[in-house]
Amino acid sequence: MTRELPEWYYDEFIQTGTDYSDKDEIQRYDRKMQKIRNINDEIQTMRTLIGLQPEDRLLEIGCGTGEFSIELSRHCKQVVALDVSEGMLEFAREKAKLRSRSNIEFIKGGFLTFEPADEPFDAVVTQLALHHLPDFWKLIALKRINSMLKVSGRFYLRDVIYSSEISDFDSFFSKLLQSIPEEVKDEMAKDYILHIKEEFSTFDWVSEGLIEKAGFRIEEVFHENGFIATYLCIKNEI
Ligand SMILES: C[S@@+](CC[C@H](N)C(=O)[O-])C[C@H]1O[C@@H](n2cnc3c(N)ncnc32)[C@H](O)[C@@H]1O
Repeated sequence: MTRELPEWYYDEFIQTGTDYSDKDEIQRYDRKMQKIRNINDEIQTMRTLIGLQPEDRLLEIGCGTGEFSIELSRHCKQVVALDVSEGMLEFAREKAKLRSRSNIEFIKGGFLTFEPADEPFDAVVTQLALHHLPDFWKLIALKRINSMLKVSGRFYLRDVIYSSEISDFDSFFSKLLQSIPEEVKDEMAKDYILHIKEEFSTFDWVSEGLIEKAGFRIEEVFHENGFIATYLCIKNEI
């Protein structure tokens, strides 16, 4: 269910920044997300915003260790969960088995390579993954997501996206690094630095332009701490 690509196409299977194909990194990521995030709240917010219904088919792109796909699968008909890391998919499949979830299909593929076989999805979610693509490829990805949705389908995007309120990035990032709690300082500082230096997070005004150019209207926007943004988007009628 992936497609043949021309030679000039971006290779989304090469990991940029944090290496999510590394087994130790995958274990660490899952442990860390349980420790520093309120996963239940995140799942609840995602579910409420997309208004997930029992008959819905949901696509998650960049599912990581599977937490969101697995929990959302309890509230809809089917989930298709994608990731470019085979290691992440193995971890997520095992977790789904342990939680007795069988209505999830885990597929190796990503924003640029997944080719859906069935009818369009009711909703698409992606969290902390789109920043792995440079901006040009973000637009291609968003257009592809748009084409995989039913008209008026819901699209939830949450990512590291920098606020246009920030005028001085030197002092913003140095304050951010200083604000990391002491008990997780070493580990988190390394992650933040790698993210800022090597991954492709962009500005909110760029993201919003890209979302709209891809054929969505933005229904709701939430900003957290100047560097996380959440968008609920609706596919426009053609
Ligand atoms: C920071 S993790 C986020 C995982 C999960 N969504 C979460 O909220 O915890 C980023 C994930 O995106 C995946 N990823 C990176 N580039 C991708 C792409 N082009 N398409 C799909 N997934 C991608 C990585 O392999 C990794 O599992």
